[in-house]
Order: sequence, then structure tokens, then C-alpha cells
Amino acid sequence: MSRILYILAAGIIYLVIEVHSLVEFTNIKCQSVDKNFSDFEYCHLKSVNRTYKYISLKVNLFKIPVSKVKVNIELLKRFNGYKPFLYNVTVDGCQFLKKPKSSPVAFYFYNFFKNVSNINHSCPYNHDLMVDKLSTQHVNYQFTKVLPFPEGDYMYKMNWMAYGINRAVVEVYFSFS
Ligand SMILES: *[C@@H]1O[C@H](CO)[C@@H](O)[C@H](O)[C@H]1NC(C)=O
Ligand SMILES: *[C@@H]1O[C@H](CO)[C@@H](O)[C@H](O)[C@H]1NC(C)=O
Ligand SMILES: *[C@@H]1O[C@H](CO)[C@@H](O)[C@H](O)[C@H]1NC(C)=O
Ligand SMILES: *[C@@H]1O[C@H](CO)[C@@H](O)[C@H](O)[C@H]1NC(C)=O
Ligand SMILES: *[C@@H]1O[C@H](CO)[C@@H](O)[C@H](O)[C@H]1NC(C)=O
Repeated sequence: MSRILYILAAGIIYLVIEVHSLVEFTNIKCQSVDKNFSDFEYCHLKSVNRTYKYISLKVNLFKIPVSKVKVNIELLKRFNGYKPFLYNVTVDGCQFLKKPKSSPVAFYFYNFFKNVSNINHSCPYNHDLMVDKLSTQHVNYQFTKVLPFPEGDYMYKMNWMAYGINRAVVEVYFSFS
């Protein structure tokens, strides 16, 4: 009997944690490494109200068409400073977008923004790139339902390379509690 109660209690605690686990964006930083190649028109985190926060960014490309792209995606977790956590992958963006399921890790990260971005086609790119209103709800779904993560402060860092040269760095900071 007490064993059953214990299991029930554990189940309820689990549910409570599950329901209250939330992602909160805390910051976004965008840096153009080569302003002759590309630059950010905007890059911001907006708080509409307590529950609705989103990030938007737009990159202007100055040397179009762009037909060779690599993206390095790292997840970092804050311990004593941000430390690599679980993922650090580099994918050929053009190949990846032709067959997104070819890289499960990249696919997971891509799913965070593919629905709210015009980056969702294969190369070449001959237009500005944007992520429009990526909301916490959207990220929450990915984080808590698709692949659960431990609580903490995280940074999702992307290095965007074109023709073998790093052109832009995007860092999205968020906490998960
Ligand atoms: C950008 O272009 C200017 C003018 O063409 C040049 O002087 C400068 O060195 C270039 N910068 C980089 C990072 O390539
Ligand atoms: C927050 O803003 C969104 C969008 O304007 C709105 O749909 C939502 O009801 C607001 N939530 C609260 C708690 O005010
Ligand atoms: C992630 O991998 C890239 C290339 O493989 C490397 O240059 C970089 O230092 C790594 N990042 C960390 C935080 O280890
Ligand atoms: C993206 O949109 C598709 C189709 O509208 C939907 O099935 C999918 O769940 C969405 N993905 C995310 C991560 O919201
Ligand atoms: C890319 O996103 C746009 C809208 O954001 C959508 O109309 C289009 O079907 C998407 N394309 C692919 C290949 O998913």
C-alpha cells in the first residue's frame, strides 16, 4: 500500500515538475563577423507581457547568391561560466536542408525555428534571412516534449559560415526551470 502511495506521489510530483517546467528567453546577441558579407538589420528579444516573449532577427546578405553554407551549433550550459553541454555539431547547411533528417541533432535544433523563418529551403540564398517572432511557447514544446533537459541557464550558439569563413555568430540565452 505505501509502495503504491509512493509511486502515486512520485507520479504527481513528476507531473507538477513537468507542467511547471518552462523556458524563458533571457537574451539574444547577434554579431556580424564580416560586415562586407552580411549584417544584422535587427536582432532582439521582445517581452509583450509576462507570458509572451519572442525573438526576431534579420540578416542582410550582401554577396548573393550564397551557395555554400556551414553552421556550427553548440549548446552550452552555465555552471561556472558557460560550458559545452551535450551538443557541438557542424553541418553543411545546403546538404542538410536538402535532407533535414540526415542529421538528427541539427534537425532537432532546426525545428526550433524552421516554422518561423525563411531559411527553410535549400541553397542558394538570394534574399535576406529572418526569424520572425520565435516565441517561448514554441521553444518550450521542443525542450520539454521532444527531448527533456535538466534545469539551468543555457546558451544556444550558432556560427554561420559561408565559403569556409565565419560570417556571423548568434547566441540565444535562456533559462529552463
Ligand atoms: C570590406 O570592404 C572594404 C572596402 O572594399 C575593405 O577595405 C575591407 O578590408 C573589407 N573588410 C573585410 C573584413 O573584408
Ligand atoms: C500576452 O500577449 C498576447 C499577444 O498580444 C495575448 O494573446 C495574451 O493574451 C497576453 N497574455 C496576458 C497574460 O496578458
Ligand atoms: C565546437 O566544435 C568546433 C569545431 O568542431 C570547435 O572549433 C569549437 O571549439 C567547439 N566548441 C567548444 C565549446 O568546444
Ligand atoms: C511546424 O508546422 C507544421 C505544419 O504547420 C506543424 O505540423 C509542426 O508541428 C510545427 N512545428 C513546430 C515545432 O511547431
Ligand atoms: C517555408 O516557410 C514558408 C512560410 O514561412 C512556407 O510557406 C513554406 O512552405 C516553407 N517551405 C518549406 C520547404 O518548408
